[in-house]
Amino acid sequence: MMYEEASRRQAEELHGKTGVRILALETSCDETAAAVIEDGRRILSDVVFSQIDLHELYGGVVPEIASRAHMEACDRVVDQALREAGMTLDQVDALAVTKGPGLVGALLTGVNCMKGIAFAARKPLVGVNHIEGHVSANYLSNPDLEPPFLCLVVSGGHSHLVEVRDYGVYRLLGQTADDAAGEAFDKAARALGLPYPGGPRIDSLAEEGNPEAFLLPKPKTEGRYDYSFSGLKTAFINLVHGIEQRGEPLPKADLAAGFRRAVCRELTEKAEMLIRERPELVRNGFALAGGVSANRELRRMAKAMCDGLGVRLYMPEIRLCTDNGAMIGSAAYYQLMRGELAGLNLNAEPALRLVVSSDR
Ligand code: KG4
Ligand code: ZN
Repeated sequence: MMYEEASRRQAEELHGKTGVRILALETSCDETAAAVIEDGRRILSDVVFSQIDLHELYGGVVPEIASRAHMEACDRVVDQALREAGMTLDQVDALAVTKGPGLVGALLTGVNCMKGIAFAARKPLVGVNHIEGHVSANYLSNPDLEPPFLCLVVSGGHSHLVEVRDYGVYRLLGQTADDAAGEAFDKAARALGLPYPGGPRIDSLAEEGNPEAFLLPKPKTEGRYDYSFSGLKTAFINLVHGIEQRGEPLPKADLAAGFRRAVCRELTEKAEMLIRERPELVRNGFALAGGVSANRELRRMAKAMCDGLGVRLYMPEIRLCTDNGAMIGSAAYYQLMRGELAGLNLNAEPALRLVVSSDR
Protein backbone atom coordinates (compact mmCIF):
# COMPACT_ATOMS: atom_id res chain seq x y z
CA MET A 1 0.00 0.00 0.00
CA MET A 2 1.24 3.51 -0.81
CA TYR A 3 2.36 5.65 2.13
CA GLU A 4 -0.41 8.23 1.70
CA GLU A 5 -3.18 5.62 1.64
CA ALA A 6 -1.77 3.79 4.66
CA SER A 7 -1.41 6.98 6.69
CA ARG A 8 -4.96 8.10 5.86
CA ARG A 9 -6.32 4.77 7.07
CA GLN A 10 -4.32 4.94 10.27
CA ALA A 11 -5.54 8.47 10.93
CA GLU A 12 -9.16 7.36 10.43
CA GLU A 13 -8.70 4.61 12.98
CA LEU A 14 -7.72 7.20 15.59
CA HIS A 15 -11.17 8.82 15.56
CA GLY A 16 -12.95 8.54 18.87
CA LYS A 17 -9.87 7.06 20.53
CA THR A 18 -8.25 8.53 23.60
CA GLY A 19 -4.56 8.43 24.37
CA VAL A 20 -3.60 9.63 20.87
CA ARG A 21 0.09 10.46 20.94
CA ILE A 22 1.81 12.83 18.57
CA LEU A 23 5.55 13.36 18.22
CA ALA A 24 6.08 16.96 17.07
CA LEU A 25 9.12 18.84 15.82
CA GLU A 26 9.63 22.62 15.60
CA THR A 27 12.55 24.17 13.69
CA SER A 28 11.19 27.44 12.25
CA CYS A 29 13.72 29.78 13.84
CA ASP A 30 16.48 29.24 16.39
CA GLU A 31 15.03 26.51 18.60
CA THR A 32 15.24 22.83 17.73
CA ALA A 33 12.35 21.49 19.78
CA ALA A 34 10.49 18.18 19.98
CA ALA A 35 7.67 16.96 22.18
CA VAL A 36 5.24 14.09 22.67
CA ILE A 37 1.67 15.28 23.27
CA GLU A 38 -1.34 13.19 24.26
CA ASP A 39 -4.82 14.09 23.00
CA GLY A 40 -3.67 17.61 22.16
CA ARG A 41 -3.62 18.64 25.81
CA ARG A 42 -1.15 16.62 27.84
CA ILE A 43 2.63 17.01 27.62
CA LEU A 44 4.43 13.66 27.90
CA SER A 45 7.78 15.23 27.04
CA ASP A 46 9.00 18.61 25.84
CA VAL A 47 12.62 19.13 24.78
CA VAL A 48 13.88 22.55 23.65
CA PHE A 49 17.40 22.95 22.35
CA SER A 50 18.12 26.66 21.99
CA GLN A 51 20.70 27.93 19.53
CA ILE A 52 20.96 31.37 21.16
CA ASP A 53 24.66 30.85 21.99
CA LEU A 54 25.43 30.35 18.29
CA HIS A 55 23.68 33.54 17.18
CA GLU A 56 24.44 35.87 20.08
CA LEU A 57 27.75 36.95 18.56
CA TYR A 58 25.94 38.27 15.47
CA GLY A 59 23.18 40.13 17.33
CA GLY A 60 20.43 38.10 15.66
CA VAL A 61 19.59 34.78 14.04
CA VAL A 62 21.89 33.88 11.11
CA PRO A 63 19.77 31.68 8.79
CA GLU A 64 22.64 29.53 7.49
CA ILE A 65 23.91 28.80 10.99
CA ALA A 66 20.36 28.01 12.12
CA SER A 67 19.80 25.46 9.32
CA ARG A 68 23.05 23.67 10.02
CA ALA A 69 22.46 23.60 13.76
CA HIS A 70 18.93 22.20 13.26
CA MET A 71 20.34 19.51 11.01
CA GLU A 72 22.83 18.49 13.67
CA ALA A 73 20.30 18.59 16.51
CA CYS A 74 17.08 17.18 14.96
CA ASP A 75 17.65 13.46 15.48
CA ARG A 76 19.04 13.92 18.94
CA VAL A 77 16.18 16.15 20.09
CA VAL A 78 13.56 13.80 18.63
CA ASP A 79 15.20 10.79 20.34
CA GLN A 80 15.32 12.65 23.62
CA ALA A 81 11.62 13.59 23.38
CA LEU A 82 10.73 9.91 22.87
CA ARG A 83 13.01 8.80 25.68
CA GLU A 84 11.63 11.35 28.14
CA ALA A 85 8.09 10.26 27.25
CA GLY A 86 9.20 6.67 27.94
CA MET A 87 8.16 5.60 24.46
CA THR A 88 9.48 4.13 21.25
CA LEU A 89 8.58 5.45 17.82
CA ASP A 90 6.24 2.47 17.35
CA GLN A 91 4.06 3.69 20.21
CA VAL A 92 3.49 7.09 18.61
CA ASP A 93 0.24 7.48 16.63
CA ALA A 94 1.26 10.35 14.38
CA LEU A 95 4.03 12.83 13.59
CA ALA A 96 3.90 16.59 13.24
CA VAL A 97 6.22 19.31 12.03
CA THR A 98 6.11 23.10 11.63
CA LYS A 99 5.74 23.88 7.90
CA GLY A 100 5.79 27.72 8.22
CA PRO A 101 6.10 30.61 8.64
CA GLY A 102 9.79 30.97 9.42
CA LEU A 103 13.26 30.72 7.93
CA VAL A 104 13.09 28.57 4.82
CA GLY A 105 16.27 26.57 5.45
CA ALA A 106 15.40 26.01 9.09
CA LEU A 107 11.87 24.87 8.21
CA LEU A 108 13.14 22.54 5.46
CA THR A 109 15.45 20.79 7.88
CA GLY A 110 12.56 19.92 10.17
CA VAL A 111 10.14 19.07 7.36
CA ASN A 112 12.64 16.69 5.75
CA CYS A 113 13.54 15.09 9.06
CA MET A 114 9.89 14.35 9.87
CA LYS A 115 9.03 13.24 6.35
CA GLY A 116 11.87 10.73 6.59
CA ILE A 117 10.64 9.39 9.92
CA ALA A 118 7.00 9.32 8.74
CA PHE A 119 7.89 7.35 5.63
CA ALA A 120 10.18 4.91 7.41
CA ALA A 121 7.79 4.32 10.32
CA ARG A 122 4.67 4.55 8.10
CA LYS A 123 2.89 6.99 10.40
CA PRO A 124 0.51 9.82 9.49
CA LEU A 125 2.19 13.24 9.22
CA VAL A 126 0.69 16.68 9.95
CA GLY A 127 2.19 20.00 8.75
CA VAL A 128 1.52 22.73 11.31
CA ASN A 129 1.28 26.51 11.05
CA HIS A 130 3.67 27.98 13.64
CA ILE A 131 1.28 30.80 14.59
CA GLU A 132 -1.51 28.28 15.16
CA GLY A 133 1.01 26.47 17.37
CA HIS A 134 1.46 29.57 19.52
CA VAL A 135 -2.32 29.91 19.94
CA SER A 136 -2.51 26.20 20.84
CA ALA A 137 0.07 26.54 23.64
CA ASN A 138 -2.95 27.82 25.57
CA TYR A 139 -4.67 24.42 25.28
CA LEU A 140 -1.72 22.83 27.09
CA SER A 141 -1.61 25.32 29.98
CA ASN A 142 -5.39 25.78 30.30
CA PRO A 143 -7.24 22.44 30.17
CA ASP A 144 -10.66 24.15 30.31
CA LEU A 145 -10.08 26.53 27.39
CA GLU A 146 -12.19 25.88 24.30
CA PRO A 147 -12.94 28.12 21.31
CA PRO A 148 -14.42 30.61 20.64
CA PHE A 149 -12.06 33.13 22.19
CA LEU A 150 -10.00 36.17 21.24
CA CYS A 151 -6.23 35.75 21.09
CA LEU A 152 -3.44 38.32 21.02
CA VAL A 153 -0.52 36.63 19.25
CA VAL A 154 2.68 38.55 19.88
CA SER A 155 6.01 37.09 18.80
CA GLY A 156 9.20 38.02 17.01
CA GLY A 157 7.37 37.98 13.69
CA HIS A 158 3.71 38.68 14.51
CA SER A 159 1.37 41.00 16.36
CA HIS A 160 -2.10 39.71 15.60
CA LEU A 161 -5.51 40.06 17.17
CA VAL A 162 -7.16 36.80 16.16
CA GLU A 163 -10.69 35.55 16.61
CA VAL A 164 -10.41 31.83 17.32
CA ARG A 165 -13.82 30.67 16.11
CA ASP A 166 -13.12 26.99 16.44
CA TYR A 167 -10.14 24.65 16.36
CA GLY A 168 -8.39 25.56 13.12
CA VAL A 169 -10.84 28.35 12.26
CA TYR A 170 -9.41 31.83 12.63
CA ARG A 171 -10.24 35.36 11.63
CA LEU A 172 -7.65 38.09 11.64
CA LEU A 173 -9.06 41.23 13.26
CA GLY A 174 -5.89 43.30 13.65
CA GLN A 175 -2.22 43.08 12.80
CA THR A 176 0.93 45.17 12.77
CA ALA A 177 1.53 47.51 9.88
CA ASP A 178 5.29 47.31 10.34
CA ASP A 179 7.40 45.78 13.14
CA ALA A 180 6.12 42.95 15.30
CA ALA A 181 6.14 43.60 19.06
CA GLY A 182 9.01 41.13 19.67
CA GLU A 183 11.03 42.65 16.87
CA ALA A 184 10.55 46.11 18.41
CA PHE A 185 11.72 44.79 21.80
CA ASP A 186 14.78 43.22 20.16
CA LYS A 187 15.71 46.42 18.32
CA ALA A 188 15.20 48.61 21.38
CA ALA A 189 17.39 46.22 23.34
CA ARG A 190 20.10 46.48 20.74
CA ALA A 191 20.06 50.28 21.08
CA LEU A 192 20.73 49.76 24.80
CA GLY A 193 23.64 47.45 23.97
CA LEU A 194 21.84 44.35 25.28
CA PRO A 195 22.52 40.97 23.63
CA TYR A 196 20.06 39.03 21.45
CA PRO A 197 17.25 38.16 22.10
CA GLY A 198 16.52 41.49 23.69
CA GLY A 199 12.89 41.04 24.73
CA PRO A 200 13.56 39.08 27.92
CA ARG A 201 16.50 41.38 28.84
CA ILE A 202 14.39 44.54 28.46
CA ASP A 203 11.72 42.83 30.54
CA SER A 204 14.13 42.07 33.40
CA LEU A 205 15.82 45.49 33.32
CA ALA A 206 12.44 47.23 33.23
CA GLU A 207 11.45 45.64 36.55
CA GLU A 208 14.05 47.94 38.19
CA GLY A 209 13.14 51.09 36.26
CA ASN A 210 10.66 53.96 36.35
CA PRO A 211 8.31 53.67 33.35
CA GLU A 212 7.30 57.33 33.63
CA ALA A 213 10.86 58.75 33.46
CA PHE A 214 10.70 59.20 29.68
CA LEU A 215 7.80 60.14 27.49
CA LEU A 216 7.43 58.09 24.30
CA PRO A 217 4.97 58.83 21.48
CA LYS A 218 1.73 56.92 21.17
CA PRO A 219 1.66 54.87 17.93
CA LYS A 220 -0.77 55.97 15.22
CA THR A 221 -2.39 53.39 12.97
CA GLU A 222 -4.87 53.42 10.11
CA GLY A 223 -6.87 50.30 10.96
CA ARG A 224 -8.72 50.56 14.25
CA TYR A 225 -7.32 47.35 15.70
CA ASP A 226 -4.00 47.41 13.92
CA TYR A 227 -0.63 47.94 15.52
CA SER A 228 2.47 49.91 14.58
CA PHE A 229 5.71 49.78 16.51
CA SER A 230 8.21 51.21 14.09
CA GLY A 231 7.60 54.89 15.03
CA LEU A 232 7.90 54.05 18.70
CA LYS A 233 11.10 52.10 18.06
CA THR A 234 12.63 55.01 16.09
CA ALA A 235 11.66 57.52 18.79
CA PHE A 236 13.29 55.26 21.36
CA ILE A 237 16.50 54.86 19.36
CA ASN A 238 16.68 58.66 18.87
CA LEU A 239 16.14 59.19 22.57
CA VAL A 240 18.99 56.80 23.39
CA HIS A 241 21.33 58.37 20.82
CA GLY A 242 20.54 61.85 22.18
CA ILE A 243 21.56 60.81 25.69
CA GLU A 244 24.72 59.16 24.36
CA GLN A 245 25.64 62.24 22.32
CA ARG A 246 25.39 64.40 25.41
CA GLY A 247 27.93 62.05 26.96
CA GLU A 248 25.56 61.11 29.77
CA PRO A 249 25.33 57.56 31.16
CA LEU A 250 22.30 55.65 29.85
CA PRO A 251 19.60 55.15 32.50
CA LYS A 252 18.97 51.71 31.00
CA ALA A 253 16.40 50.50 33.51
CA ASP A 254 14.23 53.62 33.13
CA LEU A 255 14.53 53.50 29.36
CA ALA A 256 13.62 49.80 29.27
CA ALA A 257 10.67 50.40 31.60
CA GLY A 258 9.41 53.29 29.46
CA PHE A 259 9.65 51.30 26.25
CA ARG A 260 8.06 48.20 27.74
CA ARG A 261 5.20 50.27 29.14
CA ALA A 262 4.56 51.95 25.78
CA VAL A 263 4.48 48.64 23.85
CA CYS A 264 2.34 46.80 26.39
CA ARG A 265 -0.07 49.71 26.76
CA GLU A 266 -0.58 49.77 23.02
CA LEU A 267 -1.12 46.00 22.88
CA THR A 268 -3.69 45.98 25.66
CA GLU A 269 -5.49 49.21 24.72
CA LYS A 270 -6.33 47.97 21.22
CA ALA A 271 -7.46 44.63 22.59
CA GLU A 272 -9.65 46.40 25.16
CA MET A 273 -11.22 48.61 22.51
CA LEU A 274 -12.08 45.53 20.45
CA ILE A 275 -13.49 43.64 23.43
CA ARG A 276 -15.67 46.58 24.46
CA GLU A 277 -17.07 46.86 20.95
CA ARG A 278 -17.52 43.16 20.34
CA PRO A 279 -17.93 41.40 23.70
CA GLU A 280 -19.15 38.24 21.96
CA LEU A 281 -15.54 37.62 20.89
CA VAL A 282 -14.50 36.87 24.46
CA ARG A 283 -17.42 34.61 25.36
CA ASN A 284 -14.92 31.96 26.41
CA GLY A 285 -12.14 34.42 27.27
CA PHE A 286 -9.16 36.38 26.08
CA ALA A 287 -5.81 34.65 25.52
CA LEU A 288 -2.21 35.73 25.03
CA ALA A 289 0.23 33.80 22.86
CA GLY A 290 3.75 34.02 21.40
CA GLY A 291 7.17 34.91 22.79
CA VAL A 292 6.14 38.39 23.96
CA SER A 293 3.32 36.91 26.06
CA ALA A 294 6.12 35.92 28.47
CA ASN A 295 6.51 39.63 29.21
CA ARG A 296 5.73 40.34 32.84
CA GLU A 297 4.21 43.76 32.23
CA LEU A 298 2.01 42.47 29.41
CA ARG A 299 0.75 39.67 31.64
CA ARG A 300 -0.01 42.14 34.47
CA MET A 301 -1.72 44.64 32.18
CA ALA A 302 -3.78 41.94 30.47
CA LYS A 303 -4.85 40.67 33.91
CA ALA A 304 -5.88 44.16 35.03
CA MET A 305 -7.77 44.75 31.79
CA CYS A 306 -9.60 41.42 31.97
CA ASP A 307 -10.45 41.87 35.65
CA GLY A 308 -11.90 45.30 34.82
CA LEU A 309 -13.99 43.89 31.98
CA GLY A 310 -15.02 40.71 33.76
CA VAL A 311 -13.36 38.57 31.09
CA ARG A 312 -11.45 35.33 31.72
CA LEU A 313 -7.77 35.63 30.87
CA TYR A 314 -5.74 32.69 29.55
CA MET A 315 -1.99 32.61 29.10
CA PRO A 316 0.46 29.83 28.31
CA GLU A 317 2.86 29.13 31.17
CA ILE A 318 6.08 31.10 30.58
CA ARG A 319 8.11 28.28 29.06
CA LEU A 320 5.38 27.56 26.50
CA CYS A 321 5.21 31.19 25.33
CA THR A 322 8.42 31.04 23.30
CA ASP A 323 9.03 28.46 20.57
CA ASN A 324 8.59 24.82 21.57
CA GLY A 325 7.48 21.50 20.11
CA ALA A 326 4.62 20.94 22.55
CA MET A 327 2.47 23.69 21.03
CA ILE A 328 3.02 22.17 17.57
CA GLY A 329 1.86 18.80 18.90
CA SER A 330 -1.29 20.36 20.34
CA ALA A 331 -2.24 22.14 17.11
CA ALA A 332 -1.44 18.95 15.17
CA TYR A 333 -3.87 16.87 17.23
CA TYR A 334 -6.91 18.90 16.16
CA GLN A 335 -5.69 18.87 12.56
CA LEU A 336 -5.21 15.10 12.69
CA MET A 337 -8.74 14.66 14.02
CA ARG A 338 -10.04 16.73 11.08
CA GLY A 339 -8.11 14.47 8.71
CA GLU A 340 -5.79 17.24 7.51
CA LEU A 341 -2.75 15.13 6.69
CA ALA A 342 0.43 16.01 4.85
CA GLY A 343 1.75 13.90 2.00
CA LEU A 344 5.37 13.19 1.26
CA ASN A 345 5.32 16.29 -0.95
CA LEU A 346 5.03 18.49 2.18
CA ASN A 347 7.17 21.59 1.69
CA ALA A 348 8.32 24.51 3.84
CA GLU A 349 6.11 27.59 3.51
CA PRO A 350 8.25 30.47 4.83
CA ALA A 351 5.53 33.12 4.31
CA LEU A 352 2.57 31.01 5.49
CA ARG A 353 -0.20 33.09 7.10
CA LEU A 354 -2.68 32.11 9.76
CA VAL A 355 -5.59 33.21 7.59
CA VAL A 356 -5.67 34.70 4.11
CA SER A 357 -6.22 38.45 4.17
CA SER A 358 -9.55 38.24 2.37
CA ASP A 359 -10.96 36.66 5.53
CA ARG A 360 -10.50 39.89 7.39
O1 KG4 B 1 7.43 33.19 19.68
P1 KG4 B 1 8.88 33.38 19.66
O2 KG4 B 1 9.73 32.49 20.51
O3 KG4 B 1 9.42 33.25 18.19
C1 KG4 B 1 8.73 33.74 17.10
O4 KG4 B 1 7.82 33.03 16.61
O5 KG4 B 1 9.05 34.87 16.68
O6 KG4 B 1 9.12 34.89 20.03
C2 KG4 B 1 10.40 35.42 20.15
C3 KG4 B 1 10.26 36.88 20.47
C4 KG4 B 1 11.60 37.61 20.47
O7 KG4 B 1 11.45 38.83 19.76
C5 KG4 B 1 11.83 37.85 21.95
O8 KG4 B 1 12.61 39.00 22.21
C6 KG4 B 1 10.43 38.02 22.46
O9 KG4 B 1 9.68 37.06 21.77
N1 KG4 B 1 10.33 37.78 23.91
C7 KG4 B 1 9.99 38.74 24.79
C8 KG4 B 1 10.06 38.15 26.07
N2 KG4 B 1 10.41 36.84 25.93
C9 KG4 B 1 10.57 36.64 24.58
N3 KG4 B 1 9.66 40.04 24.60
C10 KG4 B 1 9.38 40.75 25.69
N4 KG4 B 1 9.43 40.26 26.95
C11 KG4 B 1 9.75 38.98 27.19
N5 KG4 B 1 9.77 38.49 28.44
ZN1 ZN C 1 7.33 31.52 17.54
